[in-house]
Amino acid sequence: MSDKEFAFTRKEFDCLREIVNRKAGIFISDEKFNMFYSRLSRRIRELGLADFRQYCELVKNEQGDEIEALINSITTNLTSFYRERHHFEYLQDHILPHRNKIRIWSAGCSSGEEPYTIAMTLHNAGWGNPAYQYDLLATDIDTNILSRAAKGIYQQENADGLSDNDLKQYFLKGKGKNKNLIRTKPSLQRNIRFSQLNLIESWQHAEPHDVIFCRNVLIYFDQPTKQLIVNKFIDALSPGGYLIVGHSESIKKLTDRIEFVGTTIYQKPE
Ligand SMILES: C[S@@+](CC[C@H](N)C(=O)[O-])C[C@H]1O[C@@H](n2cnc3c(N)ncnc32)[C@H](O)[C@@H]1O
Repeated sequence: MSDKEFAFTRKEFDCLREIVNRKAGIFISDEKFNMFYSRLSRRIRELGLADFRQYCELVKNEQGDEIEALINSITTNLTSFYRERHHFEYLQDHILPHRNKIRIWSAGCSSGEEPYTIAMTLHNAGWGNPAYQYDLLATDIDTNILSRAAKGIYQQENADGLSDNDLKQYFLKGKGKNKNLIRTKPSLQRNIRFSQLNLIESWQHAEPHDVIFCRNVLIYFDQPTKQLIVNKFIDALSPGGYLIVGHSESIKKLTDRIEFVGTTIYQKPE
């Protein structure tokens, strides 16, 4: 007799991981069985269902909302301010100089630390001045995490990548019962467009991007999906534009249409 609150068999695991893979491109290995159970049992409880069999039926029959909730439960949203700091140094030292206009996309932005770090890098380099124009798009598949990103509220203890200057310039500190929280100032927030976007669905942006950050997202996809998305990113870049990926996501084997210019930084030929 299992000590689990809800019955969960391999058949239901396969049913759910196939749906997540088809809808979000996320590849789920056998080792994720227990992770699936713990993340989704919360959802089963909320819905008042008896077991995973009922949950599978619900997801299979419903086209919209429950699939969104399933994907929101399964995504891994780990992120932090100035994660892989050398990317922001490269942006500041090699990409921003000699221009006064830039279009940047944070694809798979999670709870917002990445696009806010990009915005702080721009402002610290003087791009808050109206002589400079930047367009910063931040997207994710996960609607829950995206609404948290748009709110821009963080626990102070999770903000250890931020300098005293960043905290002072770009954040408001909570008071009373919110004293452990910080919130991004509207001056930083209003320049970022948060929007839901599933990278494996069809998307097309009217204007090309000068820089695409897609860090620690490709790692969840299988090889053909990675290849497809990387090629779509290259199509969406302006000539000379940059694609920046996560520390374990070399794309050298996926395409020869883009050149390696720094650790996990690639440039589209002019
Ligand atoms: C580990 S976080 C990376 C956050 C940030 N880029 C960083 O490096 O700190 C991965 C993000 O990718 C998102 N994601 C997963 N599959 C996606 C898809 N098909 N389309 C768009 N975003 C996706 C997840 O929701 C999650 O927020």
